[in-house]
Amino acid sequence: MITCSAPGKIYLFGEHAVVYGECAIACAVELRTRVTATSSDTVTISSDLGTTGLDHEIHPYVSLAIEKMGAKKVSVEISSDIPVGSGLGSSAAVTIATLSAINLEFRLGHKNEEIARMGHEIEQKVQGAASPTDTFVSTFGGIVEIPSRRRLNMLECGVVIGNTNKGATPKKTAKLVKHVASLRGEYPEVIDPIIRTIGSFSKKGEILVKKKDYVSLGKLMNVNHGLLDALGVGTAELSALVYAARNAGAYGAKITGAGGGGCMVALTDSPREVASAIENAGGRAIISHFDQNGVKQE
Ligand code: PMV
Repeated sequence: MITCSAPGKIYLFGEHAVVYGECAIACAVELRTRVTATSSDTVTISSDLGTTGLDHEIHPYVSLAIEKMGAKKVSVEISSDIPVGSGLGSSAAVTIATLSAINLEFRLGHKNEEIARMGHEIEQKVQGAASPTDTFVSTFGGIVEIPSRRRLNMLECGVVIGNTNKGATPKKTAKLVKHVASLRGEYPEVIDPIIRTIGSFSKKGEILVKKKDYVSLGKLMNVNHGLLDALGVGTAELSALVYAARNAGAYGAKITGAGGGGCMVALTDSPREVASAIENAGGRAIISHFDQNGVKQE
C-alpha cells in the first residue's frame, strides 16, 4: 500500500495571456490530494463521489491514470483538500498523485518527467485541450515560470484563497478562453496590448520574487486583476472577495485561473484577517502557503 500526495496551484500572474505565448508564473500551494494505491483482486476507485470500478464518467482522470499505468488489479482511494473545478488544479493533482502511487506500488520505475507527461496527456484526453502547467506544477512543486518551466525562489508570505463557490463547471476554462479569443478577434488593437501587458508582469515578477518584494508583487497582482476584468473573465463575486482582501491589508489580490467564478488569491502576512474579510464578503477562505514540494510519498 502506497500513499502519494500532489499539490494544487495558483497563478501569481499571467493566466489567459499564457494562451497567446506570453509568460505566466504558476505556484504550487499547500493544498493536497492524497491517493492510496493498494494491489487488489479487482479495480476499485473510492472518493467523495462514491466507489466505482474503472468509470470514465464518475472518475475520468483516475480511470485513465490506472489504464495508462497498465494496472489491472488495484484499489485506489482518494481524499482531497482542493475544491473541484475552481481553477486550483484539482484534476491535475488527482491525476499526478494516482500515477505516482501506482508507479511506486507496482515498482514501475517511471521518472517524474514521465509522470508529468502522462498526466498532461490524461488532462488533454478528458478535457479536449489542456496546458501542461497544472500537471507540471503538481509534479514538481515550487514557483515556476511558464513556458520556460524555470523554477523561481520560494516565497514565505501567506497565501489566502477565496472561493466564490460559483461557476465550477468542467467546461468553464474552455468557455472563458473562447470568450477572450472572440473579444480579441473583434478588437485585436485593444485586446493584444492588454495581453502583452499581462505577460510583462511575469518578467517583472521574476525579479520581485527573487527580492521577496511582496509589496510590489501585490501591486502588480492588483493591476493584473484589473486587466483580467477588462478581458471579461471577472465576476462581481470575485471582485467583492478581491476588494475585501485588499481592504483587510493584503499586499495584492486577483482572480486565479480562468475566472468566471471559481477562486481569487491574495498575498498577505496577515492571513487570518484576510480570510475573515473574504468570509464576510460571502466567499469561502482557505489559508495556505507556497509549497516547494511537488508529488511525494506520504
Ligand atoms: O482555471 P484553470 O486552472 O483551468 O486555469 C486556466 C488558465 C488559462 O490561462 C485561462 C488557460 C490555460 O490553459 O492556460
